[in-house]
Amino acid sequence: MKIGFLQFNPVFGNVEYNVGKVVSMLKDVDFDLMVLPELFNTGYLFLDRNEVERLAEEVPDGYTCRRLVNLAHEKNAFIVAGIAEKCCGKLFNSAVIVGPRGVLGIYRKAHLFSREKLLFDKGDSNFEVYDIGSVKIGVLICFDWCFPEASRTLALRGVDIICHPSNLVLPYAQIAMRVRAIENRVYTITANRVGVEERGNERLKFTGLSQIVNPKMEVLCSAGVDDEVVGVVDVDPLMARDKWITPYNHVFNDRRVDLYRL
Ligand code: ACM
Repeated sequence: MKIGFLQFNPVFGNVEYNVGKVVSMLKDVDFDLMVLPELFNTGYLFLDRNEVERLAEEVPDGYTCRRLVNLAHEKNAFIVAGIAEKCCGKLFNSAVIVGPRGVLGIYRKAHLFSREKLLFDKGDSNFEVYDIGSVKIGVLICFDWCFPEASRTLALRGVDIICHPSNLVLPYAQIAMRVRAIENRVYTITANRVGVEERGNERLKFTGLSQIVNPKMEVLCSAGVDDEVVGVVDVDPLMARDKWITPYNHVFNDRRVDLYRL
C-alpha cells in the first residue's frame, strides 16, 4: 500500500490557488492514501471568526470537497485533508476523509490550539475509524498529538494508520508522533505545512518535517523544514496488527487499567 504526505506553503485566503497547487503536485504521483496539511485550502492565521465564516465550506458540497472527491476518484485513492468547515451555525477545524466514491467522513479537531479557541468550535467527532479496503484509518489534527488519549483511543478501536494533518509551530510534535507510533504499534502520517504567515499582530513560522513512521518507530520518509514536496512509501499496513512487544508483552493487554483510575 502506498501511503504519503504532501507538504507545501498555502497562500492565506486563496482557496483556488491552494487546491490547484495540491492537484498539480499530485498529478504524476501514484498513491493509495494521501494526507494533506491542516487548513490546507485556506491557510491558518485567521484574524477573527468572521474571516473563518467567510472562508469555511460545507461538506460535501463546498468547492474544496468537490475537487478532492474528483481527485480521489481520478486517482482511485483516499485523501485526508484539513479544511475549515461550517455546519449548523458552527465553525470547525476539520479534516475530510474522501475516497473514490465520495466523502467517507469528517473529523473535527478535538483539542484546539491557542487562539483557535477564539475562532472555531470544539470538535465533536468521537475518534471514528474509517475502513478503506482492508485497512483502518483514523484522524488527529495537529495539536491533538499532545493528548496521548486521542491516539490511544484510535488504536484501541483498531486503526492501522493515524493520519495527522498539521500546521505545527512548536518543535516537539514530530518526535512525539514517533512515540505515538511505537506506544500504539500503528503507522502515523504527519502532513505539516511550511512557510511563514504574518497577519494582524501575529507571525507564525511552520516547522515542516512531515513524516511517515512505522509501528516500530522507524521514520520511513521525512521532508525538510522548508520544501514543498510529496513523500510516498510502500508499506505493509498489517504490521500494525501485531501488538506484541516481546513474546510476553502486549501493548494493550498488559495495560494496568486497574491502577490507572484517578
Ligand atoms: C496546531 O494545532 N495547529 C498547532
